[in-house]
Amino acid sequence: MIQPFDSLDAYERAMQLSVDDPEAFWSHVASQYSWIQPWSQVLNWDFRCYDVRWFEGGTLNITLNCLDRHLSDRGEKTALIWEPSDPEGASRSFTYQELHSEVERTAAALRRQGMGKGDRICVYMPMVPELAVVVLAIARIGAIHSVVFGGFSAHSLADRIADAGCRMVITADAIVRGGKILPCKEVVDEALTNCNGVERVWVFRVSGSDVDMIYGRDVDAHEEISRYSGTGGEAEVMQAEDPLFILYTSGSTGKPKGVVHTCGGYMVYAGYSFTHVFRAQPGEVFWCTADIGWITGHTYLLYGPLLQGSTTLMFEGIPIWPNPDRFWKVCERHSVNLLYTAPTAIRSLMAAGDAWVKPYSLNSLRVLGSVGEPINAEAWQWYHREVGKRRCPVTDTWWQTETGGILIAALAGLSPLKPTYAGLPLPGIQPVLLDAQGEIIEENEREGYLAVRFPWPSMIRTTWGDHERCRQTYFGAYPGYYFTGDGARRDADGYYRIIGRVDDVLNVSGHRIGTAEVENAINMHPLVAESAVVGVPDELKGQAIYAFVICKGDPQNPDNIRAEITATVTEFIGKIARPDKIQLVPGLPKTRSGKIMRRILRKIAEGDVSQLGDTSTLLDPSVVDQLIRGRI
Ligand code: WTA
Repeated sequence: MIQPFDSLDAYERAMQLSVDDPEAFWSHVASQYSWIQPWSQVLNWDFRCYDVRWFEGGTLNITLNCLDRHLSDRGEKTALIWEPSDPEGASRSFTYQELHSEVERTAAALRRQGMGKGDRICVYMPMVPELAVVVLAIARIGAIHSVVFGGFSAHSLADRIADAGCRMVITADAIVRGGKILPCKEVVDEALTNCNGVERVWVFRVSGSDVDMIYGRDVDAHEEISRYSGTGGEAEVMQAEDPLFILYTSGSTGKPKGVVHTCGGYMVYAGYSFTHVFRAQPGEVFWCTADIGWITGHTYLLYGPLLQGSTTLMFEGIPIWPNPDRFWKVCERHSVNLLYTAPTAIRSLMAAGDAWVKPYSLNSLRVLGSVGEPINAEAWQWYHREVGKRRCPVTDTWWQTETGGILIAALAGLSPLKPTYAGLPLPGIQPVLLDAQGEIIEENEREGYLAVRFPWPSMIRTTWGDHERCRQTYFGAYPGYYFTGDGARRDADGYYRIIGRVDDVLNVSGHRIGTAEVENAINMHPLVAESAVVGVPDELKGQAIYAFVICKGDPQNPDNIRAEITATVTEFIGKIARPDKIQLVPGLPKTRSGKIMRRILRKIAEGDVSQLGDTSTLLDPSVVDQLIRGRI
């Protein structure tokens, strides 16, 4: 286990060492984990063709570090607590020993299904403990997990299964959340009618809903696993650079891409960042409210806390159901020490009124974290005052699916608190701000593009099946740097404030959605000729989705068309990508070369039409007035 820095001095010394001698620095961090065979080379890197390799020659299995390593002195301590969506339902908990044996049995059963090293297994499940167990079991046998968030539609799921070439899908009968029962297995069935290659589907019966089982393909997962003891569930020996998982995320163009993380580097950075940012001690109860279907759930619900021997809490429900005090009830019920959630949740709880949180003393809480989108000052203050009772440091953590772990944050309880600033880079992280020409901005208090100039262990290795796309996206824009897609500014103390995406990626309630993806889905409607999607600021969601749509012919019933377009987006992506507003328009502001001027669309959508800037380069400037008149 890693000891968190005990002072800002210690942090600064580590920072200095990480710059002066990165290999010595990371070698020291990595040596605090158990390796089957030590590495022979700490780092090999080249940002031009994009090749980064960490801890080569080393072999390991992340689950040995998450589970086995704790058995001798923490075996009886709680590894995982599960809180069901139903507040009257019984919670479940697993000691490290119990979680270890569940994972071993599941790993043995997976092996008997013929799964092994390098096979891709898709996981499409609700937030039940079985989800955590299967993800760890997949890692244990050296297969590659691709977890798909349960809110994605059958189409999205099919695309991801096909792209990764999955041989197996693990799912559940239904998703129980916030008083509703949502389909899960049915979505998998539908997805699999559109893609080949899946030989086996495991179904966990967690809700008691009826499901159709397809003979020869579908297997009752509990029944299957119950036939195995731990024998056969031994950890596979993995090379440091073998892939651990694929996680799909949206970019500014095309379909979502499969971000690949590797066994060694990801493990080292997940544990390292978890420990230092939250200054977590073994035994503390950590509650990350994210779904395991997102990177935050991977790194800080599952791997990070288990690497550090903490107790991780997994919640099946949503913050405001049955009432907006559910979060605080859960915190008290399980004596949560560290709470890690998203600004969108904080804002919705704040909007529900202080009366829901005031009655709770929340005195087990020690640290509050925020992630996923910029946190506005009001939400920060409320979180600090009403939830943390002015006792708990708030750490705003900036990172991405591609970074694998938190890169910039306030170190809880050490760094001075600055609302709306994510904070300082972790030692080992070398961020820079670049101007439009790709020159480093040395002065402070200026805005620039956030990039990183030196590798860190958990950085994206490739996008599955398309390395050139990875190189282009992250290393093509500013040669020699990893480009984040975010804009930021740095103050005189070196604190970073994240401004938001500078590309065509939206952040809706902390969910990352590409405008191109939403446009493609809208265009699937047979009456749509063309569309353009922009984000507009939204008090609760951070950003809302505003779509401008050109229909073929004159739409007879605009309300119907809008409803159908919404249904089409739900069908092709999922509810999270539904446009908040759809404006039917006669044309779009395009340049003579056919490029849509999104800057103008953003202004119109925001209702800020006084300064539209130069519209003279438009092919048909009159379209702008029509759009303004038709604004909704
Ligand atoms: C945004 C989520 C401001 C950012 C971990 C980034 C943030 C994108 C913060 C990645 C933060 C994440 N402050 N913005 N603390 N954290 N973001 O891949 O725009 O789902 O590029 O990873 O979320 O989203 P992703």
